[in-house]
Amino acid sequence: MSIEGARVLVTGGAGFIASHLVDLLVEQGARVVVLDDLSAGSLDNLASVRGDIEFIEGTVCDPDTVDRAVAGCRLVFNFAANADVPRSVKHPDIDFMTNSVGMYNILTAARKHGVERTMQASTAAVYGEPDYTPMDEDHPLRPISPYGASKLGAEALGLAYHHTYGLPFTPVRIFNTYGPRQPRYVIYDLFRKLQRDPEHLEVLGTGEQVRDYCYVTDTAGAFLALALHPEADGRPYNIAGGHPVSIRELVGMILETLGYRDTEVTYTGRSWPGDITRLVAGLDRIKATGFAPTVDLKTGLKNFADWIQP
Ligand SMILES: NC(=O)c1ccc[n+]([C@@H]2O[C@H](COP(=O)([O-])OP(=O)(O)OC[C@H]3O[C@@H](n4cnc5c(N)ncnc54)[C@H](O)[C@@H]3O)[C@@H](O)[C@H]2O)c1
Repeated sequence: MSIEGARVLVTGGAGFIASHLVDLLVEQGARVVVLDDLSAGSLDNLASVRGDIEFIEGTVCDPDTVDRAVAGCRLVFNFAANADVPRSVKHPDIDFMTNSVGMYNILTAARKHGVERTMQASTAAVYGEPDYTPMDEDHPLRPISPYGASKLGAEALGLAYHHTYGLPFTPVRIFNTYGPRQPRYVIYDLFRKLQRDPEHLEVLGTGEQVRDYCYVTDTAGAFLALALHPEADGRPYNIAGGHPVSIRELVGMILETLGYRDTEVTYTGRSWPGDITRLVAGLDRIKATGFAPTVDLKTGLKNFADWIQP
């Protein structure tokens, strides 16, 4: 399929990752529709493409709004979600409605309108605590947060639609993505704390947690490549950067990026419900489609620093 001139829906397109995908789609000549309720995203993230896209302010929880947004689209990327795990622990209803029911509404509309591929932004949280690392896509699925469970429900439904109705559907399990426009999570929090106090840094947890960071434009590029790949359909794909680091190593790299040599770093030792200690992705399946990240962590952190402290 040629992306040029194709009408494409991106739900959650005013958010961090999906706004980068919108940039890429516009650059490649797609006619992009964004559906976002702006509960977490911002129109600022779409400022450079605002004149080139159709923006619908609304929720994926409303079937009529979804139907209107999906009509005429050849591709749908479903990124709309509550992406905040601690919030999902307090309000599991929001996750279930947005992540699971929202996906149901999209699949229903995709089936009705003959969408050529529906892509779901799923998450490594569907795995839960690892039996082994790196976790490939066949690793057991035992989410330990309502967020992970609601995303797994959405995946399962999409794959069932694929098998039952032949609906083209691909869930992509994002490990940790970072980069400009990200308004939360570890990297953002560490930079913000260091902006307030370059001399002392308190880090949540033990510092031993391991994460596999992927730069946001690499994640966005992989979603588009998978959406257009003739065989990447009907089964899940992991996506990550492929170079796992401990939080302790990450802290060292951030301090180096900022040129801070004398910061006193302390670790609280406490974790939080839903937190997973080792998130390392098996990437053989996505690499077989041609995926190769282009931005390493050192460069990505420099870009992040330029964005957060202009
Ligand atoms: N950032 C990561 O590292 C990461 C990791 C795993 C999975 N993901 C998934 O990727 C997607 C994007 O994550 P992000 O980090 O960019 O988060 P984000 O919060 O920046 O983006 C989510 C967007 O969805 C919108 N939204 C929320 N509820 C909605 C609703 N009911 N209807 C329409 N729009 C709604 C928000 O306003 C926001 O713009 C999410 O589905 C998330 O679960 C992200």
